[in-house]
Amino acid sequence: MVEPQVLPVEEMVSEEEFTDRVEILRELETWYRNIKHRISSSMALISPRRMGKTAVLDKLVNTVFFKDYDVAPFYFKMKREETTLRKFLLEYYTTFFRQYIAYILKDPVLYANNKVDLKALLKLKTGDERVRYVQEEHIKDFIERYEEYDWQDARNHWEDMIKTPEFLGAVLGLHVAVIIDEFQDMKFYIYDIDVIPDDPAKKPMATDLTATYDRQSQSRRAPMLVSGSAVTMIFRTVMGGPLGGRFGFKYLKPMAIEDGATLIKKLLRLRGSDITDELAIYLSSQVNGHPYYVYCCAESDCPDKDFSTKDGIDRIIEYEVTRGKIFGFWETHFAENRKYINQDNDIELG
Ligand SMILES: Nc1ncnc2c1ncn2[C@@H]1O[C@H](COP(=O)(O)OP(=O)(O)O)[C@@H](O)[C@H]1O
Ligand SMILES: [Mg+2]
Repeated sequence: MVEPQVLPVEEMVSEEEFTDRVEILRELETWYRNIKHRISSSMALISPRRMGKTAVLDKLVNTVFFKDYDVAPFYFKMKREETTLRKFLLEYYTTFFRQYIAYILKDPVLYANNKVDLKALLKLKTGDERVRYVQEEHIKDFIERYEEYDWQDARNHWEDMIKTPEFLGAVLGLHVAVIIDEFQDMKFYIYDIDVIPDDPAKKPMATDLTATYDRQSQSRRAPMLVSGSAVTMIFRTVMGGPLGGRFGFKYLKPMAIEDGATLIKKLLRLRGSDITDELAIYLSSQVNGHPYYVYCCAESDCPDKDFSTKDGIDRIIEYEVTRGKIFGFWETHFAENRKYINQDNDIELG
């Protein structure tokens, strides 16, 4: 019987939809492979929102997990939800330990299973000495300290833990890629308090965790790959300051027009529809190969949606930009940025 293959990361973009990104994936895979030889340094993958960063990182992790690169992928996606540092600390290190162990055991199901907590990890029976070392020397300590102290220890605990991936890399010889999606959100959503007050006026400033990666980002045993949405000046403030000069930058551009055309063909076929090669190229060039805009056109609620003429396609794009999902996307984007700009009012707005 053939086992259905479970992927370590559930991809938002399905296998049938995923298009192109061949070159960037090749570059990132080389970067990843070289971590074993300690010649990769920290990288940032930058683009405006919805350009496909998460899609690329998901694919990268699912690819490298099954190859024998002998480097553990720690992949943490920032959620755009407010949380306390104490809760965040637990979630972050539960994810780290679970994924590190899952990689050693070559177990994609464990990697994916976010219901497995630290106590369950501790109970895991295994003959692997490295896993037992992580359980006995690291997870146990973490749980003890976490249970003994309250939220006032969270910041110190966080700072004491930050070298863990590098330390394990040195002791066990299994290096780590620290991959964080939407890294700049570590500056805006985490509060070093006991409980987040309902009244926004009573809320303190969010705590800035990005600065705590000062040393970690220089590690060759556990270098970082972070993604960031560079539309605003925000990413500059995050990557300036203490992290300035620590990261190499890669920019994720829209797709080539031909690849955008391939994408619209795939998306329409999956929806039981079709488009000629010529019009697929036309649509893709009208949205500059932007994968999310292509997706919005395929999904559009435009009345009398018609992909069989240039006029029809123009109407779909017009509808999307003025009323549809593309419009909604920009509206949300501006609302969020207003919030950020208010928090960041000490810096010059680019
Ligand atoms: N390589 C790709 N193949 C197919 N669709 C893509 C691809 N990259 C992005 N998309 C589309 O664009 C959307 C946004 O991509 P996402 O990775 O979430 O962007 P980001 O992380 O940069 O904000 C996806 O949900 C998908 O519809
Ligand atoms: Mg994303």
